[in-house]
Amino acid sequence: MTRVWDPLVRIFHWTLVITFAVTWVTSEGWDALHEWSGYAAGALIAFRVIWGLIGPKYARFTQFVKSPKTTVAYIRSMTERKEQRYLGHNPAGAAMIIALLLTLGVTVWTGWMLTAPAATRLWWMSDAHGLITSVLMALVLAHIAGVFLASYHHKENLFRSMVHGKKRAAEDSDVA
Ligand code: HEM
Ligand code: HEM
Repeated sequence: MTRVWDPLVRIFHWTLVITFAVTWVTSEGWDALHEWSGYAAGALIAFRVIWGLIGPKYARFTQFVKSPKTTVAYIRSMTERKEQRYLGHNPAGAAMIIALLLTLGVTVWTGWMLTAPAATRLWWMSDAHGLITSVLMALVLAHIAGVFLASYHHKENLFRSMVHGKKRAAEDSDVA
């Protein structure tokens, strides 16, 4: 086994899952908790962006973010079950991570805008916040489905790797 996910990436991931769940279930009537857990999610995203620039190898955006061409080719190879195994995030997972971070950022921003006094609030912000949270939930569900699919195709438990940080060592055909 090789260590892939550093402790901060793992702590980031599971605290983000908790803040996302708390923010979601408190959205109807638990305003203070909803807002604070939403801001906590925002702080986590800010941390992850910085960590993606200065963190260890597998945490870096330059290690896992690939061009649209490579990403599309990877998704195509997935449909034929011929996709390579990546030790870090695979190109499809990487695209999903960027989509999640961006959508989370917009969600927190539109939520924050809703705390402005009624007179200065943009009338469409409430709709925007509601709409973007639906997009976010759809992405999260697709993310979880992607994790299960990749785990199944490569016969490894990616969920557990995000807990203990280790993955099966790379073989010749894998991308390390
Ligand atoms: C219980 C549900 C979830 C499970 C089982 C899960 C599992 C995982 C796994 C296994 C990875 C690593 C993927 C890989 O090996 O390449 C990952 C990465 C990631 N997940 Fe999740 N996830 C869940 C929920 C969420 C939620 C709710 C969010 C955001 C709202 C999220 C955001 C992310 C992000 C941003 C990464 C990239 C990690 C990093 O490099 O920092 N996940 N997830
Ligand atoms: C992870 C981040 C967040 C998620 C997933 C989230 C999710 C949601 C959801 C699902 C709703 C219900 C929308 C509807 O019924 O149409 C909602 C409403 C609301 N959220 Fe958030 N939210 C987040 C962050 C924030 C933040 C940071 C704030 C403010 C500081 C905030 C303030 C509000 C307010 C005031 C409402 C009521 C809006 C209305 O009904 O007009 N949210 N949020």
